[in-house]
Amino acid sequence: MNTNLLYKTCIGCAIALIIAALVGGVIYYAPEPDDTHEYSDSPWDPNAPKHPVTINSTPSLPFVDSGRKDQAGNPIGVRCNTCHSSKEPNLTLNNGALLHEFHQGLHYAHGGMNCVSCHNPDDYESLRLANGESIPFSETIQLCAQCHGTQYRSYRDGSHGGMTGYWDLSKGPRQRNTCTDCHSAHAPAYPKVMPVFPPKVREGSKLPSQH
Ligand code: HEC
Ligand code: HEC
Ligand code: HEC
Ligand code: HEC
Repeated sequence: MNTNLLYKTCIGCAIALIIAALVGGVIYYAPEPDDTHEYSDSPWDPNAPKHPVTINSTPSLPFVDSGRKDQAGNPIGVRCNTCHSSKEPNLTLNNGALLHEFHQGLHYAHGGMNCVSCHNPDDYESLRLANGESIPFSETIQLCAQCHGTQYRSYRDGSHGGMTGYWDLSKGPRQRNTCTDCHSAHAPAYPKVMPVFPPKVREGSKLPSQH
């Protein structure tokens, strides 16, 4: 066989292969007719009834734990106003380390604000917004939102604060965390990655300084 013929045969084969591939590809990718496609059994219906979105509420009640338990083993709480209804509020306190009479050990690191930036000095069993409005502890999220509008808006749009359940509320309900599920109200910085011990040096290997 001379080289010219071999060359032509190869070109011929290559062209045939390319044509076969193109035809095959077109057949393979041919769209199926509309009435047979498989996703049509549950189309998204914007008017379908919606399941609710529930936001966890702050579990905290206006009690401090007395450290004692009742006969059934439940912790005994002491209401804030047991002590505070007869006590002048300290409007300037802004440092947990200055608490000597009670609430010792309360870790506070939140922008150096006074306690009464959030607590209602007229009724310590509630919180107070900057406009003077009093809100229950269960609505803490409103308190955070007034100073952290950016994060609150991201939270509302779903990009901050996480969620479980369904995006499509016609399929099922959705649950949202509240701010204090992740941030302590008193020391809100989100914990950084846990510190760990440095990796162990295996027996027989040298420490860098021994090189
Ligand atoms: C057993 C009594 C007692 C109870 C119950 C109690 N407190 Fe207090 N609280 C005190 C005392 C005493 C101080 C002052 C401590 C100090 O300055 O050393 C104080 C201080 C405070 C302060 C700092 C500002 C200020 O007015 O001195 C805040 C805020 C506060 N308490 C909130 C609360 C809240 C909220 C609760 C309920 C969840 C509560 N307390 C329950 C006794 C109590
Ligand atoms: C940024 C707002 C904010 C500030 C500032 C603040 N608190 Fe609170 N505090 C809260 C919220 C909200 C709760 C309810 C508990 C929760 O959601 O974790 C609470 C709960 C408490 C409680 C009852 C629960 C507990 O931890 O024993 C006490 C007591 C208290 N605060 C005292 C203080 C004192 C004293 C200061 C100042 C040193 C202070 N708080 C500053 C928002 C605040
Ligand atoms: C009255 C205004 C005010 C309220 C109410 C308030 N904050 Fe803050 N927050 C601040 C200030 C001021 C800082 C400090 C900003 C700084 O240091 O740059 C801060 C800082 C923070 C930080 C960053 C902490 C860090 O060190 O990285 C978080 C998280 C936070 N707040 C969460 C909350 C949450 C959750 C609530 C509701 C319980 C809340 N804040 C309520 C004013 C507020
Ligand atoms: C599921 C947990 C979670 C919830 C719920 C949550 N956050 Fe955060 N937040 C975080 C994490 C994680 C960070 C980032 C911490 C970091 O980068 O160090 C953060 C950061 C922040 C900061 C500091 C931003 C900065 O740039 O320093 C603020 C302020 C804040 N969150 C406010 C809020 C408020 C207000 C709410 C409620 C509306 C909320 N967060 C709910 C997890 C949460």
